Amino acid sequence: MPLQSIPLDGSIKTLAYADQAEDLIDTANEAIETFMLADLEVIENFVTCDFHLLDQTMSWIHGNHLLTGNRFCEWGAGFGVATMLAALRGMQAVGIEIEPRLVHQAEEVAQRVGSSARFFQGSFVPRDVEGLAEIAGEVKNVETEEGDVYDEIGWEIDEFDLVFMFPWPGEESFFEHIFAACAADGALLLSYHGREGMRLLRQER
Ligand SMILES: C[S@@+](CC[C@H](N)C(=O)[O-])C[C@H]1O[C@@H](n2cnc3c(N)ncnc32)[C@H](O)[C@@H]1O
Repeated sequence: MPLQSIPLDGSIKTLAYADQAEDLIDTANEAIETFMLADLEVIENFVTCDFHLLDQTMSWIHGNHLLTGNRFCEWGAGFGVATMLAALRGMQAVGIEIEPRLVHQAEEVAQRVGSSARFFQGSFVPRDVEGLAEIAGEVKNVETEEGDVYDEIGWEIDEFDLVFMFPWPGEESFFEHIFAACAADGALLLSYHGREGMRLLRQER
C-alpha cells in the first residue's frame, strides 16, 4: 500500500484550539444531544469523535505545513463538525453523509455558526475501485451500495488534500483501500480511533 504513516506527537493535546472552535463544538454538542434525545429511530452507525482532539490535530497538521493544498473532505460526516472545523481554518470543506437526517442537522448547525462548510447526501465510496468489492463484504458499518456524490460536489477524491474519517474498529482498511487507490500524491488521511486517538497517513505513490 502506498500509504506512509506520519507519527503524531504528544504535544498535540497541549495546542490551543482554533478561534471559534470551542463555540462551534459547544453548539454542535447541544444539537447532537437534542437530536439523540428526540429521535425515536436510532441511527446505529452514528457516533461522534473527540472534536477537541481533532481541532488540535488539525492545528498540528497546519503548524507543520503538511498540507499540499486547501481542500478537505469528511467521509461519513454525521453532524459535520470536522468539516466545519476545517472550514474555520479557511479550508474549502465538504462533508459526505449517507443519512439525510444527519445532513439536515449538519446544515442547520453550519447555518447557526455561519460556517462555509458544504454537505452532500450520498456515499463517499467511489464506484469502480479495483479490489473494493472483495473487501466490502467484511464492512458492516459503511453503506457500500449507494452511488457516490463526487460529480455533485464537482471534485474527485484526487482533488482533496485532507480527508478525515472515523471508522468503526476493524473497518479502517476499507477506507484506506479507497484512499490508496484514489487520492493524489501527498494527500493526507486523518482518522480517529477512540482511545487510541488520531492516526495520520500520507499517500506516496
Ligand atoms: C462513526 S460516524 C462518524 C461521524 C463524524 N465523522 C464524527 O466523527 O463525528 C460514521 C458516519 O458515516 C455515515 N456513513 C456510513 N456509510 C456511509 C457512506 N457510504 N457514505 C457516507 N456516509 C456514510 C454514518 O451514517 C455515520 O454518520
